[in-house]
Amino acid sequence: ADHPITAKAHTNIALVKYWGKLDNQLIIPQNDSLSLTLDEFYTQTTVQFLPELSADEVIFDNERLSESASKRVRTFLDHVRQLAGINFHARVITKNFVPTAAGLASSASGFAALAGAASRAAGLNLNRRDLSRLARRGSGSATRSIFGGFAAWQQGQDDATSYAYPIDEQPTWDIAVVALVLNAKQKKISSRVGMRLAVETSPFYSAWIKASQADFETVKTAIQNEDFELLGHTSEQNAMRMHALTLSSDPNFTYFNADSIQAMNMVKELRLQGISCYFTMDAGPNVKIICQGADAERIRCYFQSSFGQDQVLVTRSGTGISISN
Ligand code: DP6
Repeated sequence: ADHPITAKAHTNIALVKYWGKLDNQLIIPQNDSLSLTLDEFYTQTTVQFLPELSADEVIFDNERLSESASKRVRTFLDHVRQLAGINFHARVITKNFVPTAAGLASSASGFAALAGAASRAAGLNLNRRDLSRLARRGSGSATRSIFGGFAAWQQGQDDATSYAYPIDEQPTWDIAVVALVLNAKQKKISSRVGMRLAVETSPFYSAWIKASQADFETVKTAIQNEDFELLGHTSEQNAMRMHALTLSSDPNFTYFNADSIQAMNMVKELRLQGISCYFTMDAGPNVKIICQGADAERIRCYFQSSFGQDQVLVTRSGTGISISN
């Protein structure tokens, strides 16, 4: 194919987190992880390989990226060229669709969409497992964004065996995520650096691996049985176990800010009022609240009164990657 190819991929929220690599080059994780793909937040990327280009061109939300800012994308394109046996440079046009300028844009949707568009534009026709392996080379969390609904990333031990698979792509129970945008600014410590610090310096790292493997099995069972309490409780515990690794790293750090802590306390307050909801957080201060669809509006109102209208977004289970022909 020499015509432009467009792919669309949604972001995902990990219920059992990936935090640490066995292989930094190939992005092989230290544990299995499990996520819910979200419908409201996605990336759309168009790729075309062109003989007349003397370098890769990356346009991100209407702005041309500099050499240094596009480094990760260009390294990824090198890998795709090598797989496809081509050497043309590419024009990459990518757009993030997030309801506000929110800091909810993710490398997960970004590299999943890039993997889909670049591989097909290069003439490769990968199945979804191989697409997830390719997306993994860009960013670990992108591995899971190939699939919709609940998806797992099997750790594996090498490039061939570390990939995502669907657990339930179209859940029949109504799960919602209320995302609180607590700081739209760039995160200070990237997940890449943060997880490396944890692996290398946290004395709790081996305990994390053990706990996260158990959490993975528990959340899988909770999905099978549509047991919301078990899913929510285990996800919240897993998130805080991950964040305990940042606090116990050397140098120690945290992704929490004052608003994050307030929001977590508000979730617990809602639980005391009998509303079943649980929180999770990734490598930034935003808090995501996992709840049942029927409670989403009430939870949205509760948080909007403290954090403002635009800071509270409700989203549900989303679909897997789609790629144009
Ligand atoms: C906390 O996928 O951003 O969101 O593989 O280095 O690109 P790299 O890291 P990234 O890490 C995501 C960490 C997380 C948990 C998760 O999504 O599983």
